Amino acid sequence: MSIQWYPGHMTRARRAIAESMPIQDVIIEVLDARMPRSSENPVVAELRGQKPCIKVLNKSDLADPAVTRAWLRHLEAEPPAAPDGATPGGKVLALALSATQSSEARTRIPELCKRLAPQRSGPGRVVRAMIVGIPNVGKSTIINVLMERKVAKVGDEPAVTKSQQLVTLKSGIVLSDNPGILWPKIGDEAASYRLAVGGAIPDTAIDYESVALFAARYFLKRYPERLVERYKLKELPATALELITEIGRRRGCLRSGGAVDLHKASDLLVHDFRAGRLGRISLEAPPAPADSA
Ligand code: G4P
Repeated sequence: MSIQWYPGHMTRARRAIAESMPIQDVIIEVLDARMPRSSENPVVAELRGQKPCIKVLNKSDLADPAVTRAWLRHLEAEPPAAPDGATPGGKVLALALSATQSSEARTRIPELCKRLAPQRSGPGRVVRAMIVGIPNVGKSTIINVLMERKVAKVGDEPAVTKSQQLVTLKSGIVLSDNPGILWPKIGDEAASYRLAVGGAIPDTAIDYESVALFAARYFLKRYPERLVERYKLKELPATALELITEIGRRRGCLRSGGAVDLHKASDLLVHDFRAGRLGRISLEAPPAPADSA
């Protein structure tokens, strides 16, 4: 899939993150729980070097709970990244969150920050932490929860266009009120599709029907019962195109003349997924643990 989108602020955002990295004790990398690997950006590992990291799997209310548990185990057990090829990266702790459903972030994130930077958590000391991640994973929502302020969308503006305000939280964590915004790694085709299905790549930049076909193929394989239930299907269509056509027929997505409007039907499927109307679905699972036998 070719994606006609390239965030122009990439270099400046990267520079801004690199510049504030030296003063940070812990990096909080927010990922989409439905696709933790696809929503990661390798630049985080590269820039953080030895610094410890909390990988937050946000939107876990939308993800398959068993798959999320497997991701948490996998991310914590993964050998640390070695950005310069010589020294291992810092320790990783992983946490599943649902920032719109609960304020758990307010207690859990400071707790993990203190575990990862014990040298900074004595009386009168503070842990400095920076939140980073690609657009739409919930960074602003988490910052709002941590700062105990009324949820106001910070938006996807590059951090560099706003002055960085450092805020000391009640828990003793010093946090910037602007997240470090990275770009999705759109080089990997399957990851691009997942990001597009989840909404991290603007709809205007993608071929909507091919994204819906990708989603339909995956749902048919992994979550067929959800499709049957949601769209009241009498039998499971054999192909992704047949599924989208059937959804269009059942939901009245028709052009004049009665042909199914595939664009409308595609839109319906993708938005049903994004809103959780197909139930809790993960778009990727971690690799199976190596066979110890
Ligand atoms: P960002 O800063 O990383 O770009 O993400 P942001 O916090 O702006 O959140 C992006 C969208 O994801 C928002 O929805 C937000 O409400 C939603 N979101 C954040 N965390 C969670 C979560 O844990 N679970 C679920 N289900 N959704 C979450 P939106 O539709 O773009 O905005 P809004 O209408 O909700 O304000």
